[in-house]
Order: sequence, then C-alpha cells, then structure tokens
Amino acid sequence: MATQTPRILSGIQPSGKLHIGNYLGALKNFVELQNSGKYECFFMIADYHSITEDYDPKTKSAQVLELVADFLAVGLDPDKSTIFLQSLIPEHTELAWIFSTVTPVAELTRMTQYKDKASRQTKNINAGLFTYPILQAVDILIYKPELVPVGHDQLQHLELANDIVRRFNKKFGQTFKEIKPLLTQSPRVMSLGDPQKKMSKSDPSGCLFLSDEPGEIKKKIQKAVASSQGLEGVGLPAGNQDAILSKIEEAYQNNPALQGGLNLFLLLVIFDYEAALKIIKNKKYRYSEIKEVLAEALSNHLEYFRMKKKELIQNPNILKETLVGGSAHARKFASATLTEVKQKIGLTL
Ligand code: ADP
Ligand code: TRP
Repeated sequence: MATQTPRILSGIQPSGKLHIGNYLGALKNFVELQNSGKYECFFMIADYHSITEDYDPKTKSAQVLELVADFLAVGLDPDKSTIFLQSLIPEHTELAWIFSTVTPVAELTRMTQYKDKASRQTKNINAGLFTYPILQAVDILIYKPELVPVGHDQLQHLELANDIVRRFNKKFGQTFKEIKPLLTQSPRVMSLGDPQKKMSKSDPSGCLFLSDEPGEIKKKIQKAVASSQGLEGVGLPAGNQDAILSKIEEAYQNNPALQGGLNLFLLLVIFDYEAALKIIKNKKYRYSEIKEVLAEALSNHLEYFRMKKKELIQNPNILKETLVGGSAHARKFASATLTEVKQKIGLTL
C-alpha cells in the first residue's frame, strides 16, 4: 500500500525582526525538514494573529514582506514548500467561528501566553488575544498535518488544538487527527539580558536579531548576562552536538542560576561546535573567551543571511508572488476541509 508523505505545518507572526530564538527554535528546523525531502511542508505568515497586539497599520504589509524575505533568506524554497499568508485564506476565520463553539472558555483562560500578553498590554486586552489559540488550532487542523515544528512556548497551544480535535470528533464524528509537536534541540533560547526569560520580540533588549551587523553582535554578546559560576559542574559530555544540547536542556531545569552561562554555551555549541568541544575537553569555561569566540562565529554565520535578505527586500514583487502562489495552493486544502466540516455539523442546504 502506498503511504502518503507526512505533512507538516507551522506559522510565524509578522511582527518585527526575527531573533536567533525564532531561528533556532523554529526556522532552522523548517529548513531542515523541507530539505530532508520526507515531508510535504506548509509555512504560514500569521498576519491575523499579529493584529491582536498593538501595531501600526501603515507598517503591517512591510512586516509581512519582510518575513517572506526572512523565510527565503534562511533557505525556505517556494518550489519545495508552500509559503502562504493567513489572511488570504478566508476559510481560516470561518472555521475559527465553528471551532469556537467547541472550545470551553475555561481552557482559553488557562493559556499562559494569553495571561502573559494580557498583563503586558493592559490597555488593549481584546477578544482576539483571548481566542488567538482557536485560530491557531484552525491554521493547523485545516491542513490535516501530522507534525507541527514549534518552539517550547507553543506547546500549550498545540495541546489545546488536540483538545479541539477530541471534542469536535466526539460531537460530530471522526474528522481530525491529533497532531504532534516537533521541537528542535534548542527549543528555548533565553534572553541575553534576563536569562530566566525566553528571548522574545516583546523585550528587544534581550534579543540578538538575525539581521544584526557584526559590531552590534559583538556589543550584545559582550554585555550578555552570564552566570557567577562556571559550567564545570554541569558535566557536559564531550560527545556529538545533540548529546551536548540535551544535557544543556536538562541543566536548564536543575540549575536556574546557571541559565545565563548555559544559554551562551548553547549558542556556541550550535554556531562553533569545534570550539565548544575544545572547551568541554579542557574543562575551562571562561565566559570572556566563550563570548569572544561566539560573537565571531555568529557574525560569520549570519553574514549570508544579512546579504540575502537585503537583496530580497529590493524585490517586493517576487515576495508578493511567492505569497499569492502559495496561498492559492493552500486554499484548495483549506476549502476542502471547511466543506467537510460544514457537512459534518449540519450546515448544508
Ligand atoms: P516571539 O516570542 O519573539 O514573539 P514568536 O511567538 O513569533 O516569537 O515565535 C515564532 C516561533 O519561534 C515559534 O515557533 C516559537 O515557539 C519560536 N520561538 C520564539 N522564541 C523562542 C525562543 N526564545 N527559543 C526558541 N524558540 C522560540
Ligand atoms: N502562535 C504562534 C507564535 O506566536 C504563531 C502561529 C500561528 C502558529 N499559527 C500557527 C504556529 C500554527 C504554529 C502553527 O509563534
């Protein structure tokens, strides 16, 4: 029996420059999954989600095109992946209404991202911010994927999507399948200024942006909060990259005081594995040395991205065409699912 290529879907909001947390937690994985040739890939720009936060309508379309440029500059390829814009597919918001009727308010109240955002934007706690995870469940389920590559902070939203799957199927008959999150080996990059918090666009001072120039990278890494102790006691293995990264992830839980140092070392393992391995073998974790090597490695690694993005941004028509073409393709899937759902819930003539 022929088995179908598994489908993956993920999305990112167009709300500013991408940082290395977005890259290591999500985008890098998108590119690897695409290039593995094992998956049918859908990557969405979540513009409807992004308007739940304060924003300037004059800059939104530039932010959308900038994110397409980011996608292409890191290596997503419209010939291999469907790259599309949420607001070009009205079926998403239509299905969101239907899903809202099987989502308990109590579940939405539990969402930590909602609580966090509501505490930050007290002047604009809008209903869209509250129902945000319902629209995210639609973004995913309408394409019936198996896997959803995201960073750690999105896991609760994916659990809610699976809750919607169970409630919908129970009420209206088997329609959707539960989805699985796909985390990277670095699902939690911490803020450079406050390593107890994740790196996030909402606190730009703790972010290292993909488009930062070498001078800025050096300044930011030098200023980054490390830890008062070294990492000697963590017992990092002199093994392959994955083994070191899983030990770092484990150490994050057990040693909150070491998070700054661990975060810098995690970046070094990813951007200059040989240098990190040497430090592990010598058992001498000097933060000044780690920072110097890291800043150099990051500057070199991001050079191609910076150049490619500048080039792509000069050609907005190509960026628009990418989205229009990808969205037309995606819409066929979305519309088939919505038709099926309307039949199941009894809304047909
Ligand atoms: P931000 O919190 O900066 O606004 P987004 O919510 O737009 O980031 O996240 C886009 C993608 O990047 C999501 O898959 C998210 O899980 C991932 N991501 C965001 N911040 C980090 C981080 N610090 N470490 C790892 N992954 C992250
Ligand atoms: N909520 C996600 C974030 O803030 C963005 C997003 C919207 C998304 N729809 C999605 C992620 C569907 C994965 C799948 O990062």
